[in-house]
Amino acid sequence: NFSSTNALSRKINSVSVVGSGLMGSGIAQVTAEAGYSVYLIDQNQNALDKAMKSIQNSLTRSTKKRFNKEPDHAERYIKDTMDRIQATTELDSGAEKSDLIIEAIVENIQAKHDLFSKLDSISPKETIFTSNTSSLPITEIAQSVNRKDRFGGLHFFNPVPVMKLLEVIKTHETSDATYKTLLEYGLSIGKTTVECKDTPGFIVNRLLVPYMFEAVKMYERGDASFQDIDTAMKLGAGYPMGPFELLDYVGLDTSKFIIDGWRKRYPNDSTFQSSPVIDQLVSEGRLGRKTGEGFYNYK
Ligand code: CAA
Ligand code: NAD
Repeated sequence: NFSSTNALSRKINSVSVVGSGLMGSGIAQVTAEAGYSVYLIDQNQNALDKAMKSIQNSLTRSTKKRFNKEPDHAERYIKDTMDRIQATTELDSGAEKSDLIIEAIVENIQAKHDLFSKLDSISPKETIFTSNTSSLPITEIAQSVNRKDRFGGLHFFNPVPVMKLLEVIKTHETSDATYKTLLEYGLSIGKTTVECKDTPGFIVNRLLVPYMFEAVKMYERGDASFQDIDTAMKLGAGYPMGPFELLDYVGLDTSKFIIDGWRKRYPNDSTFQSSPVIDQLVSEGRLGRKTGEGFYNYK
């Protein structure tokens, strides 16, 4: 049991979230809502503008019900939360002041190595580093830094403000104090945490990704239409989305990246076979909801 330790956790005041896409924007939102001061960092100003707009929309949506009799409170809550988020393209400005850094950039090992080696040289030595990777080993990402005892995984789920789970990943080098700090951060933002080892897909993706690809194989064999498979899993198994809706929601490029990476690492495991249909959709730029088309059309 990871958490039964006497190690002292660290106080977190300021958090940098690097990468302001689908996940980074949600992570910045829930962190700011919990009262932390947040730097939301991206290399692309347009991505930051889009992220701030999406955070504003998400807060408007969630406060409507919560403060339905007190619209003034909702307005203040949104303003206070937004004020705690500083959006910037300057990596140094956030990294120098943060106690915790959460990386949510593209799922590419080289890009993550480049980022973390830069962060390692500019961040205070106590700053804890984490990655929100879906499929890469945390141990491998941490190769690019010296502070391997202050490196762990924080794996969030999409949409971050709604999904209640946070997987907290410990490598064999993550210190007990670091791990305890990460578990406490998870609780402080209102998530339920589960303790994960640095195994492929941690808990959720190790089960969810093969399930989604199994559904695609069923469709490729012609056993059923993808619409019927979605209906069946929603009404017969109580899932909020069918596997094809979920693939479109996560992004077909991301899903393909995950399965391709695992197949390379585990060539003898047939669970990680590629899907011709997904390869085709990705090559056509039909990546799911984010491009307006995937298995379904959202335009
Ligand atoms: N921000 C704030 N609130 C949001 C929101 C957002 N982005 N999206 C939805 N909501 C809120 C809505 O306001 C609504 O709140 P109330 O109930 O208080 O009114 C509630 O969530 C439900 O939303 P909707 O009624 O619009 O739609 P829904 O009931 O179909 O729920 C859903 C939407 C929560 C996305 C649901 O379909 C769902 O749970 N889908 C499965 C998602 C899932 O499995 N995610 C994990 C993907 S895997 C992953 O993330 C890991 C990885 O590494 C790839
Ligand atoms: P995304 O493409 O929506 O966003 C990535 C953002 O990172 C972009 O705005 C891009 O401009 C920025 N970026 C890229 N390189 C950068 C760099 N060097 N410095 C600063 N910013 C940089 O991606 P996403 O879906 O938010 O995924 C981000 C991470 O979270 C990935 O590792 C992914 O595997 C993981 N993840 C994704 C999901 C999901 O459902 N999409 C769920 C959990 C975890």
